[in-house]
Amino acid sequence: MSIKTDLHRLIDQFADRRILVVGDLTLDEFMTCLTERISREAPVLILRHEQTHRAPGGGANAVYNLACLGAAVAVVGVVGNDLQAEAMKDLLTEAGVDVSGLVVDPSRPTVTKTRIAAHSRQSVTQQVVRVDRKSDEPLAASLQQQLAERILERVSGFEAVICSDYLEGVLTDKTIAAALAHQRVIVDTHSGLERYHGAHLFTPNLPEAEAAVGYAIRTPALLSQAGQDLLERTEADHILITRGEEGMSLFSRTGERQHIPAFNRTQVFDVTGAGDTVVAALTLTLAGGGSAHQAAVLGNLAASIVVRQFGTATTNAAELHAYLEELAPEALGE
Ligand SMILES: Nc1ncnc2c1ncn2[C@@H]1O[C@H](COP(=O)(O)OP(=O)(O)OP(=O)(O)O)[C@@H](O)[C@H]1O
Ligand SMILES: [Mg+2]
Repeated sequence: MSIKTDLHRLIDQFADRRILVVGDLTLDEFMTCLTERISREAPVLILRHEQTHRAPGGGANAVYNLACLGAAVAVVGVVGNDLQAEAMKDLLTEAGVDVSGLVVDPSRPTVTKTRIAAHSRQSVTQQVVRVDRKSDEPLAASLQQQLAERILERVSGFEAVICSDYLEGVLTDKTIAAALAHQRVIVDTHSGLERYHGAHLFTPNLPEAEAAVGYAIRTPALLSQAGQDLLERTEADHILITRGEEGMSLFSRTGERQHIPAFNRTQVFDVTGAGDTVVAALTLTLAGGGSAHQAAVLGNLAASIVVRQFGTATTNAAELHAYLEELAPEALGE
């Protein structure tokens, strides 16, 4: 009973939280077309464009999730000088996000993943091809410097900083050092955890944790070993290994170990971006004074809601309250 009451209270406080995200931002584009015929120029499909849907992806999905959960969010990252940058800014601004920390790099495109899907008049829609826009060049030193400055100007005004590192170049040693000026840094990175030495909490998924420790996590004993190894290697206060349909496991420097089963294993439609949702709800809980365990539970709860929807999805405080009420007490260890 009281476990739930405390969680409800923490959710109520999401609207008072202030979070800074430093991240690799992606624009997700979903283009839907009607198949018309085979071209005479080449043996390829000719598609008639019907609509394009755009959504924040990568680190921008974490930003968007935070905003939808009610928090005041500011973002520091890089976009190109292109239409995709405008679309990204519009999407985030409409959600109430402060985008004044975005730096424009005219030498690179805004990272964009365009899925082109098609259907005939009767058939279901399926993806035909994906077109990615990105640069493999490292960020120029002057841009790294600008990003670090934008972070340092802002950190003191926020209760937590999330580093959302999709290995697209925003998180350099300089920007990481600037972010780590904050006491409460939450790291969601595809690799290179040791670069964030001094961060509070890391949220690797299972493959990321395996790559970091260098062995397959096949048994509960190896999972514990991995948690311990990652705590030692990063000197973090907590490591949260998200384990897809197995839920998540929290390892704390104090020696605590907690396994939280996935709350929803039956109505799962699309797990894309669930990790971004976890980090958003988790960070808001920590910033509101919740424990790491409460933060993991609310991250898990938020993920259990978004995996019901197609594409990267978000949830809000009202849904969290409703699903929390429905949760069996055993799921919370009551
Ligand atoms: N198949 C699933 N069934 C139920 N819950 C799931 C499933 N997949 C993910 N989840 C929920 O989402 C959380 C995060 O998922 P996961 O470990 O796959 O993160 P991730 O790989 O970082 O996700 P992404 O990178 O796509 O954002 C899990 O801890 C769990 O709560
Ligand atoms: Mg992830």
